[in-house]
Amino acid sequence: MKLTLKKSNVTYILQSMFFAGVIIFLQACGSKTPSTDSAPAADVNAVIDTKAPSDSKGVGKFTDVKLDAIDASKADLGKAVFATKCTTCHKLTANKFVGPGLLGITKRRTPEWILNMITDPEKMFKLDPVAKKLFEEILTPMANQNINDADAMNILEYLRQNDSK
Ligand code: HEC
Repeated sequence: MKLTLKKSNVTYILQSMFFAGVIIFLQACGSKTPSTDSAPAADVNAVIDTKAPSDSKGVGKFTDVKLDAIDASKADLGKAVFATKCTTCHKLTANKFVGPGLLGITKRRTPEWILNMITDPEKMFKLDPVAKKLFEEILTPMANQNINDADAMNILEYLRQNDSK
């Protein structure tokens, strides 16, 4: 085949090179744009001590819970639910089982955080920094036990009673 360089071919090649240049130029500009919406590195790596008290309310439907004096009859109801739904993974001492030991839990977490964790653990370990960190440490997800709000409140009462002894 004979290579003939027609004027139209040359124009086409030059045009292609020009557009390729424009695209490369735009990409280079784009990559230099500093990203302002990402958190500073220090925040991302902030060390969360999961044993330390936290005043976070967590993420979920419980946003404002007022506590009264411990109600022993509610605590008894909570104890029964805890025995069937929670003892497979938690002890009421400080000792870790599958999940953390729950002694002192009502001193290191807010009532809202505990209730959100009991009723929707998936949302918590996806969105709450402390729950996320706990999950990273333990590498076992807390199972959603389909606990209704009333039972969750009763369990909280039982945990408060355990911490008041
Ligand atoms: C399948 C095991 C499992 C069951 C069942 C379970 N949990 Fe958990 N729980 C965990 C694990 C594991 C964690 C640590 C967080 C994570 O990894 O998701 C946790 C975390 C927690 C925490 C936070 C502890 C801390 O130190 O901040 C509370 C409170 C809690 N669970 C309460 C309960 C209650 C109440 C029940 C019963 C309704 C329950 N859990 C049922 C495994 C379980």
